[in-house]
Amino acid sequence: DDISATHGGSNDIVQMMQDNDKNYLVLYASQTGTAEDYAKRFAKELKSKFGLNVLCQDVENVDLENLHNLPSHIIVSFFISTYGEGDFPDGAVNFEQYLSTAQLSDLKYTLFGLGNYTYEFFNMAAKKALKMLTEADATLIGKLGLGDDGKGTTEEDYLSWKEETLETLHGFINLSEESTGFKPSFKLSFVDKISDDTYLGELTSDYLPSNNFTPPTTVSAKHPYVTPIAHAKELFKSVGRNCIHTEFDISNTTIKYQTGDHIAIWPFNANEKVEQFMTTFALQPNKIFNLEPLDPTMELPFPCPTTIETALRYYLEITGPVSRECLSVLSEFAPSEIKEYVISLSKDKDAFAQEITAKKFNLADALLYLSQGQAWSQVPWECLIETLSIITPRYYSISSASNADPSTIHVTSIVENDTNEITGSPTLGVTTNLLRNISLNMNDPNSTKIMPVQYDIRGPRNLYGGHKLPIHIRHSPFKLPTDLSIPIIMIGPGTGVAPFRGFIRDRVHSVGSGDANNMGKMMLFYGCRNEDDFLYQEEWPEYSSKLDGNFEMIVALSRVSDKKCYVQHKLKERQQDLVELLNQGANIYVCGDAVRMAKDVQRSICEMISQDKGISIEDAGEMIKAMKINGKYQEDVW
Ligand code: 2AM
Repeated sequence: DDISATHGGSNDIVQMMQDNDKNYLVLYASQTGTAEDYAKRFAKELKSKFGLNVLCQDVENVDLENLHNLPSHIIVSFFISTYGEGDFPDGAVNFEQYLSTAQLSDLKYTLFGLGNYTYEFFNMAAKKALKMLTEADATLIGKLGLGDDGKGTTEEDYLSWKEETLETLHGFINLSEESTGFKPSFKLSFVDKISDDTYLGELTSDYLPSNNFTPPTTVSAKHPYVTPIAHAKELFKSVGRNCIHTEFDISNTTIKYQTGDHIAIWPFNANEKVEQFMTTFALQPNKIFNLEPLDPTMELPFPCPTTIETALRYYLEITGPVSRECLSVLSEFAPSEIKEYVISLSKDKDAFAQEITAKKFNLADALLYLSQGQAWSQVPWECLIETLSIITPRYYSISSASNADPSTIHVTSIVENDTNEITGSPTLGVTTNLLRNISLNMNDPNSTKIMPVQYDIRGPRNLYGGHKLPIHIRHSPFKLPTDLSIPIIMIGPGTGVAPFRGFIRDRVHSVGSGDANNMGKMMLFYGCRNEDDFLYQEEWPEYSSKLDGNFEMIVALSRVSDKKCYVQHKLKERQQDLVELLNQGANIYVCGDAVRMAKDVQRSICEMISQDKGISIEDAGEMIKAMKINGKYQEDVW
């Protein structure tokens, strides 16, 4: 439904290009919205700098069958992210299928991949696409770009890929720079009369249009459902860290999940961040505005009409790291005394890294720092709307079990409280902090963590209509074996234990309902700092007794003695038992930190296999790779 809204007529890509008089095509395959964001930025730059007529579309929403008939002077830029075990995003199944048999000898394209080096199959989807496009006889312009979120360099990887690619593109199409300034893609108008019941896009308010309260038939990334939170509590609190357990009540929704799936939570920004942003740009919160696309193929970034405050609270990403490109766009509107400096800073990768990135500034922090507190009041509101990213949902491993907890979804999240050294203000994760505030509010009516009350021209309205948040489910391949007799080895330090709490509750439920004869052994390796941050400590003994000796939990406490004790050390200690289980065909599951933990764990399992089988480390590594492909070694890491 939301597809056809953007271009009315045909979904056929060549037809769409023709109907809308386009001369450049950008296609993206995005899982969490990052590839989409980069694709749109690239398209916007081609439009505003070079005056190209760009069509930018999700491969999921268009029919590519005719791509081989695209006029040969039109170039296609692909942005493809990798998900799971080197897979294409969920919505790109048809796209992958199409590429595998396509004949595209007239096609010229550029390709940027978004991935994460901490995963075994780094940028595999983009690499597969390159291979298939090469086999289809298409011509790559420039180089394959590889964004790496693991090293946190996606932004700079993109910028240097883009610079080189634009250089090369010059040889193929006419890219003369028309202008450098900001050119809006939407027509902005302010509205000063509004009826009392007009919905202004506030996602959690009591003023949601009534049809939002009937569950949509499909709850997906495009249709999150605003779901009540039934219960929330603090699992532990220590200096600088809290852990929150939140339970969403899905009983009146069509939401279904399976043990091991992910929940996507759509966060909103905290009051103080919204206020800081409005001060920085001298914005009036209550102003109601409308947007109209100047290009009918473009979707609105969020529902309109809405207020400035609502757009900032629910839709625009205002607390993430600042991109150099964003500063470059805004530099045009910098206070005059610092304009030259801001422009030069936005062009100098190293200076920017040192002055902005390393200081962990959000956009408002960075700009106020550069202007020494002076407001950037010349930046047009539409420029901010189009330059900032849209808030994307955050994913968590579900810690409940679909058979034992069919009407609730449990989430286990750790909030790290840091303070920015320069601004002195807290640097808090948007979602984790929000979940903590909700928990504080639910458990203490006098809590000072006030949820948003907004004002518009109709006066103050309580726009926080209780404890609820928009959610949807992402199905994950991280699953218990359907054959209950297969032994399982679970490794999940920290919040990595979340899906394993789900696994164990699932198995406890199976025992309770009598379908659990001959259950395989279950070993859970858990790690935390000490007894204080031991998650769900009181629950495990109960599970253990219900599972009748089939379940064993092995805990590595890392900060109780001089020597670090991690899950991988405990794995070594239990090598004998583990190889025995592996020889019985056990599945291995690893959840938690991808950067170090998952690698260290894999290394120690690799050594174990190599010793047991008397084979080289390399061969043991190959065995693990094969296990991953066969689903015998599964990871849910971040
Ligand atoms: P640490 O913070 O004392 O270093 C959950 O975060 C637990 O995982 C903590 O006890 C943490 O220990 C531990 N941890 C940190 N790095 C790890 C690694 N590379 N492998 C396994 N566990 C690790």
